[in-house]
Amino acid sequence: MSIFNNWRSVVTVAAFAVGLAASPRAVAAPRVPYAFMQPGSSVDRQASALLARLTLDEKIGQMVQVDMNAIKDKNDIAKYGFGSLLSGGNSDPADISPAGWARMYDDFQSYALKSRLAIPILYGVDAVHGHNNVDGAVIFPHNIALGATRNPALVERAARVTAAEVAGTGIDWTFAPCVTVPRNERWGRTYEGFGETPELASLMGAAYVRGLQGGKLSGRESVLACTKHFLGDGGTTDGIDQGDTRCDEATLRRIHLPGYVEAIRAGSATIMVSYNSWNGQKLHGHRQLLTDLLKGELGFRGFLVSDWAAIDQLPGDYRSDVEASINAGLDMIMIPNGPGQENNYVDFINHLKELVAAGKVPLARVDDAVLRILRVKLEMGLFKHPFGDKNLIAQVGSAAHRAVARECVRESLVLLKNQGRVLPLSRQATRIHVAGKCADDLGYQCGGWTIEWQGRTGQVVSNGTTVLQALRREVKPGTTVTFSTNGLGAAGASVAVVVIGEPPYAEMKGDRTDLTLAPEDVQAIRNCKQAGVPVVAVLFSGRPLIITDVLDQCDALVAAWLPGTEGAGVTDVLFGRHHPTGKLPCTWPRTMGQIPINVGDESYAPLFPFGFGLKY
Ligand code: BGC
Ligand code: BGC
Repeated sequence: MSIFNNWRSVVTVAAFAVGLAASPRAVAAPRVPYAFMQPGSSVDRQASALLARLTLDEKIGQMVQVDMNAIKDKNDIAKYGFGSLLSGGNSDPADISPAGWARMYDDFQSYALKSRLAIPILYGVDAVHGHNNVDGAVIFPHNIALGATRNPALVERAARVTAAEVAGTGIDWTFAPCVTVPRNERWGRTYEGFGETPELASLMGAAYVRGLQGGKLSGRESVLACTKHFLGDGGTTDGIDQGDTRCDEATLRRIHLPGYVEAIRAGSATIMVSYNSWNGQKLHGHRQLLTDLLKGELGFRGFLVSDWAAIDQLPGDYRSDVEASINAGLDMIMIPNGPGQENNYVDFINHLKELVAAGKVPLARVDDAVLRILRVKLEMGLFKHPFGDKNLIAQVGSAAHRAVARECVRESLVLLKNQGRVLPLSRQATRIHVAGKCADDLGYQCGGWTIEWQGRTGQVVSNGTTVLQALRREVKPGTTVTFSTNGLGAAGASVAVVVIGEPPYAEMKGDRTDLTLAPEDVQAIRNCKQAGVPVVAVLFSGRPLIITDVLDQCDALVAAWLPGTEGAGVTDVLFGRHHPTGKLPCTWPRTMGQIPINVGDESYAPLFPFGFGLKY
């Protein structure tokens, strides 16, 4: 007997859902009486029973994930029965407060529940360092900094907080963790990885998955992890984003695969496929790696989602892209385009339908994809709780959450130089001169993937503490704190703290062939040094920069990565409230010519080796 047997209750659900649409906020956690939710039947049986009820159109709909900006008519969500929606890096609701995001989620979900079988959508976002497109959320350091902590228990707690904040806005799924192993600092996504070794990616990636998904996926504060980007994204020649990773299979497995092995072991419900190629073949069409290796050899039971319009990059026209990617093993396709644009969701649906009819994509392949997707939805209890839990909104950006981020910041700082023990600073210094364009700027402090896809300088979020603000709070009343961006006016101070760094960037725009410091950063250090004041430089960057020009002028140097909103974590270390414990998650090169340089290389004479980090 089918467990999804009570047809009338399904109709009731659909009607119920329509009723909810009118005032989704007023209804907390509705109980949806799907017959197949009967206790006692396993998720597998429920998923099969539901799959058996779906038409081919409905199955294909489940395989579609559409960016919110592509949807001009929300009725398309039920009309095509989309499996998922997402907000890409620049796709936000008009109101980006936690309540605004929660309202948006419930609104989209209410449209999804109008479909014939009222199958809820999964909503995905890039919460890659906290719930980073939500104004009011706590922004964590980027992954490279978490790698420097060498503390997987802390990383798990950080991911737990991120999950609570994402769930706090109703959202089900984050495209994290990124377990890339960046091997060339020219790459603009270096900071999204935990470091240059497979060991760091595995250790931290698995901890992150556990944190996001909690003890069980159905927990109200658990969200789906999406380990990414499979496979070899950090190994491309010259560190070119979306480029070609050229190596033999043994190297690919040794460096780039371990993160996935551990993430799958930790239960990662989904995995995102990468834009890059391996020896000239795009991953999105790579059946051997997606199906044979990941689903076969590694036994991955969750589902594979494509990257943003990534199948469009396969050779041939869009129809052949659809055929090649689905046959390679992709289960859900991320589509940023809607009607009127090229390669849009209607095109995808039509192509896949015709390909199935023509026998070019086996129905069994479609069934496998949909079964995987439904299983995840059932496991997370989405049918029971399709709407967000309003009680969780208040904790977004809470003091308790910020305290965890501050811990991450202070454990991630790597002390590279401390000549004459200029650090820790004294709280009783007569005057501390603060300088540098990054000292009082949350945009620099947070980096890319913050409110906007590429991030931006300035007051990018309304809550947060800059290093200057944190330092002012830290000192005793007798200490004067002065500030100038360019470092002028330092003369007479006991010490100068100069906060410098890279402007925010993200994928596609962050690749660099020159990683030397910006002239204004060099000048700010020089100005303080020329004033005859000991200089403590704090560097905000998503990767090691070429600092040989200024190293002599700095008495102390701290690599602070991209710490996020909790600048007090930086001053915790500067004043010695917390002694530095961070260790380099990547090798620090002397010159551009040395890059790529990684621990284990035959000739290895970097400025600072992998694992380096001074103590007080
Ligand atoms: C990125 C992914 C991201 C996706 C959705 C892509 O361009 O490569 O990391 O999850 O966009 O925003
Ligand atoms: C998305 C990215 C995408 C980019 C460029 C952003 O809004 O989040 O994933 O790659 O747009 O199209």
